[in-house]
Amino acid sequence: MKISKKMEDTNNRQMNEELFSEYLYLSMSAYFEAQNLKGFAHWMRKQADEEREHAMRFYNYLFDRDGTAVFEAMKKPDAKWASPLAAFQAAYKHEQYITDRIHKLHDLAMREGDKATMSMLKWFIDEQVEEEASALEIVQKLKAIGKSVNGLMYLNKALAKRE
Ligand code: FEO
Repeated sequence: MKISKKMEDTNNRQMNEELFSEYLYLSMSAYFEAQNLKGFAHWMRKQADEEREHAMRFYNYLFDRDGTAVFEAMKKPDAKWASPLAAFQAAYKHEQYITDRIHKLHDLAMREGDKATMSMLKWFIDEQVEEEASALEIVQKLKAIGKSVNGLMYLNKALAKRE
């Protein structure tokens, strides 16, 4: 069944949010790269890759439902953070925002009786639990590390292993 205009627009909005997430995490990756924290930079780059995949899920879904993908102007992401902890706190906050967007999109699909969108969003609802958990885990590790350079280097090495 062809997607309604309202659902097409809101799915497009979320596709653009996912693309902004990619952009934001690339900016965070560059921030870490500039500090020679290559493990952190690698983790953020992998995260950015995941966000592109999220955006493409919406892109594909829109065409599967006989809609189209519409790209908006991208806002400028922050480029600097006060510390690695501040960057990961910002990432965690961003994921909480994305979770809220996904839940609101699901609520709208429910109101509109759009069962296909509700079903597609199930994957995203589960994924957001993971997304928040992985950002929060690193926030907590960075808090525990405090000002220890050794601790930071140890975490840097661990994050370099993200597949
Ligand atoms: Fe696409 Fe990190 O949520």
